Amino acid sequence: MGRKTARMTSAEAQSRIAALRAQVARHDELYYRNAKPAITDFEYDVLKHELAELEAKFSQFASADSPTQRVGDDRAQGFVEVAHRQKMLSLDNTYNEAEVRAFHTRLAKLLEVDDLHYTVEPKIDGLAVSLTYEDGKLVRAVTRGKGDRGDDVTANVRTIRSLPHVLQGAAPRVVEIRGEIYLTAAEFERINAERATAGEDLYANPRNLAAGTIKQLDATDVARRKLEIVLYSLGYCEPEVVRSQTGLHEQLRAWGLPVVERIWPVRGIDAAWAAIGEMDLARRSFAYGTDGAVVKLDDREQQRAAGETAKAPRWAVAYKFKPDTARTRVRAITIQVGKTGVLSPVAELEPVLLAGSTISRATLHNEDEIRRKDIRVGDVVEIEKAGEVIPAVLRSFPEDRIAGAPEFDLRAAVGGKCPVCGSAIARVEVADDEAQGVAWKCQNYDCRAQRAGRLGFFCSRRALSIDGLGGVVAARLVELELVKDPPDVYDVSLETLATLNLGTTEEPRIFGEKNATKIVAAREAAKALPLEKWLYALSVPEVGESTARELGRRHRNFSELADSALLRSVLKKAELLEEKDRESPHSKKNPPVDEADRERRKVRRVEIDRAIAALEAGLLVDVPADIGPVVAASTLEFFAGEPGLRLLAKLRVLGIDPQGSVVAAGRFTGKTLVLTGTLPTLKREEAEQKILAAGGKVSGSVSKKTSYVLAGEDAGSKLEKARALGVPVIDEATFLGILLGAEAE
Ligand code: IVH
Repeated sequence: MGRKTARMTSAEAQSRIAALRAQVARHDELYYRNAKPAITDFEYDVLKHELAELEAKFSQFASADSPTQRVGDDRAQGFVEVAHRQKMLSLDNTYNEAEVRAFHTRLAKLLEVDDLHYTVEPKIDGLAVSLTYEDGKLVRAVTRGKGDRGDDVTANVRTIRSLPHVLQGAAPRVVEIRGEIYLTAAEFERINAERATAGEDLYANPRNLAAGTIKQLDATDVARRKLEIVLYSLGYCEPEVVRSQTGLHEQLRAWGLPVVERIWPVRGIDAAWAAIGEMDLARRSFAYGTDGAVVKLDDREQQRAAGETAKAPRWAVAYKFKPDTARTRVRAITIQVGKTGVLSPVAELEPVLLAGSTISRATLHNEDEIRRKDIRVGDVVEIEKAGEVIPAVLRSFPEDRIAGAPEFDLRAAVGGKCPVCGSAIARVEVADDEAQGVAWKCQNYDCRAQRAGRLGFFCSRRALSIDGLGGVVAARLVELELVKDPPDVYDVSLETLATLNLGTTEEPRIFGEKNATKIVAAREAAKALPLEKWLYALSVPEVGESTARELGRRHRNFSELADSALLRSVLKKAELLEEKDRESPHSKKNPPVDEADRERRKVRRVEIDRAIAALEAGLLVDVPADIGPVVAASTLEFFAGEPGLRLLAKLRVLGIDPQGSVVAAGRFTGKTLVLTGTLPTLKREEAEQKILAAGGKVSGSVSKKTSYVLAGEDAGSKLEKARALGVPVIDEATFLGILLGAEAE
């Protein structure tokens, strides 16, 4: 194609361009008007690509109405929030026959009619969107958002080839048409395979990928993924054009819009339940994923009469299907080592078709679960796929087991060593994103698998968002010892990245200049990210996303955090509380030995309370639940230890110094308050706590320096003194108002 273009004369190019435009237009028509494409998507792309190439080379023939321009012209710059004319509701869910029948019983009672007609429709597992057509023309596409308003994603939705921009036949003046954007399983797998090769994070399921796609800012990126859409419901419509749900389905089809392949119009709830069963059998052949059926009252007038709650219509209900399962055999149980060193067992399965894709691996979570479900190598197992990429093993069938199959023993399976680096493993309690409960852990922080895991995590979207540096690429960089700790990635040159071989010597797969350039730009951009992101990205044990955020808001930079007064206070306080509990004069576990001991403990308790109060007063910031003693110990230990010191040194050398977003001073910073009388709702200690947390001081006596006197009922001499000195007196409501941000008068 490229070579042909190069040798063309201008006249040849002009006629080829005209021919291509006509072809593309015809295929567009076949694709969405008639829903009968004559060529594959790939062939269509080839045509469009050739056209774009010619238009670029012979720019004198470029034209704004060329099909190649349909996307580029509509680019959205960020998303604008737009109100829906009619609220987008969600649906109540039901999970069994009785609940579906109860829905009917409620409606029959409400409408005082027993004989109700319904439609049963597939519940599409996609992303809800509302399209506005004015005088038959698509003017806007908005996500559901919060129901009353969503993001304007018009430019992105316009790239959906099966969606006509003009309705066929007569159209109302304004109509909101609702439906679902989705990706086919095949397209989902194509994109994920592409991402795996580029070392990018994989999407968990087609729905997430569709949602991620629609949120892309650049419509040309969206156009590269073949989004699809089906429409099934009506929002605002002026004038009204349909009188029933079946009528709506017909009307949508007549307008040329993509609709579900089948709806089941039924009379009565028995027939509705039967239709749900039929659909469950038929739905595997649908183009989109379905997670249930929707039962809707057919008559629009009755729908209106039934009305809606704040959340969902009373005239419709969703029934959720059970997730898909399949049976297959466990060939082997292999062990993966994650970024924290946790050894996770994975079932290697005889390939089996499940929910539209071939499954050959399933997660087994941990050894306890294998025991509990009694899964052994060679077993027939039932696996379930509930949207995740890696399906789960539900159960085994011990009755079909080959006699003598041994119980799975993880430690024995790996010979008591990390299968990647050969270091010691230990049984530890874990609770993080990777594993829960008791697990075996590789004890070597410098294990290749851990390093690669940490690097991939460091670059992931949630962390520093250095796109293109996950999975395969991260593993390769670590394997070649180009990266030990994640920040070493800044030392890998553009050339080294560009020529990185992700394949083998016989079958090389070169990472390439384009990917490498992207990474270099992304890692530069990451330097400016705040402390909270960097802290999260460095995989400090016990520090998850929200903890990192809280810590990032309370420290100026890594050096302040590494030696954090706040964290030391948290630890100290926990120790004091523990002592107080252990040495309580009333302790049942550890009762006082004699009267003298009891007295000593009483004294000590007072001391402890004082020490705790002093600690808290010294903090000047409130400590959220996220920052507890476990986090404090782990963080201080990490930055005082070899890995943390190494990381901090590296950041210094690189000149990277992420800044914390220390919360601005509290509402009462620099102010002294005096309390008097009884407050209507707050206890004295609570009010004091709040003042301290907001940066203020509490004093026992009123002077000219007092900023406010917080007065309640039966306030005595302090109130009089405040009045005499002209110190402002506030009540509890004003006090709380100031804390919430109101200005103090
Ligand atoms: S009707 C007021 N029909 O499921 C009517 N919704 O869990 C509400 N959904 O928000 C929608 N397939 O995004 C309807 N055939 C279908 C549907 C469907 C999928 C989605 C829709 C809704 C969500 C509720």
